[in-house]
Formats: sequence, structure tokens, C-alpha cells
Amino acid sequence: MNISLIIGSLSKQSINRSIANYIVAQFPAEVKVQEVRIDDLPLYTQDRDKESVAEYDRVREQIKMADAVLIVSPEHNRAIPAATKNIIDIASRPYGQNLWQGKKVAIVTASPGAYGGINAGLQIRQSLQSIGANVLISPEIFLSRATQALNEQGEVADERTAGFLSKFAQTFIQWAKA
Ligand code: FNR
Repeated sequence: MNISLIIGSLSKQSINRSIANYIVAQFPAEVKVQEVRIDDLPLYTQDRDKESVAEYDRVREQIKMADAVLIVSPEHNRAIPAATKNIIDIASRPYGQNLWQGKKVAIVTASPGAYGGINAGLQIRQSLQSIGANVLISPEIFLSRATQALNEQGEVADERTAGFLSKFAQTFIQWAKA
């Protein structure tokens, strides 16, 4: 079972990376996780469809080979962060080569604020569903007050949060396998 992991934050201190690390650590040992690096991707334009762009080839291959994709993303100004949207666009094109069609995808958002990045989470879902992805709807995670769940090392330390992230990880892998 191959899982491709997209962390929608380019920040070195990313709380979404901390949350993703915790979720991935709960997966059974046989699950292989590969991070899809998005910080070096040129902004997508269809003008590049006829060129070979090494960074695009790399991430498209990672999405293609994945049994399922896990996206863990922040919210920027009540919307999908540009870097998260860019990888969605890159893997949806060239026209006719949409890699999201039928792809199993789970979405998690986390924020220090009260709303847990729910706007970004729902926008990511809407975008992916519009291009045929099979998005996990339940459980859905929009993790509010996420910094309060982390210790000084950036690890998930809050028991309640750890509990539902573990449950999410199990459900996601079972669903991805089915
Ligand atoms: C934010 N942040 C934010 N948070 C939120 O819950 N809703 C929002 O609309 C926004 N808007 C926003 C815009 C921009 C440009 C930045 C940089 C930040 C705060 C954000 O949740 C916070 O910076 C988190 O730390 C982002 O997650 P990572 O990057 O730490 O994983």
C-alpha cells in the first residue's frame, strides 16, 4: 500500500507537518508513505504542457503510483493556500491526463484559530471532487486550536487530539485498502 502525502505548508515550523507526522506514525508498518514535495514546483500554466518539466514529472508520478493521497493543509485568507492548489492543478493536467480521476484522497486541515481551516478543507474537497477524485468524507478533520495540541518539540501531546487522529489514520488506511 502506497500513500502519497501532501503537506500544504511551505513553513519550516509547520503545524500541519506536525499533525501529518503524527497521523503517518499511526499507519501500520506495511504502509509506505512518500511525501510529495511541493515547495519547488513552478506555478502551473497550460503553456508548459508541451515542455518536459522535471518537477512536474516527479510529482505526477508520485500521485499516479499512490493507492491513496493524504493532504494535510493550512488555510490562507479563508482559502486554499496557493501551494496546495498548485499541486492539485499540476496533477489534473495536461487535459485528458487528470491523475485525480478515481483517486482516493483524504483531507485534513489544521489551524491555530477557532475554525480549523474548514474553508480551505471544503474548498480542497470541492476542487478535487470536480475533477473526479474519490474524497473521504467521514471522518473529516478540521483541527482548531492546533498549536495547543502540540508540545514544544512540535509533537502531538494532547490526548484527545491524539485519539481522534489515530482513529482517523486507521479509518483512512482501511478505506484506502478496500
Ligand atoms: C494565515 N492563517 C490563517 N488561519 C486560519 O485559520 N484562517 C485563515 O484564513 C488564515 N489566513 C492566513 C493567511 C496567511 C497568508 C498566513 C501565512 C496565515 C494562520 C495559519 O493558520 C497559521 O499561520 C498556521 O501556522 C499555518 O499552518 P502551518 O503553515 O504552520 O502548517
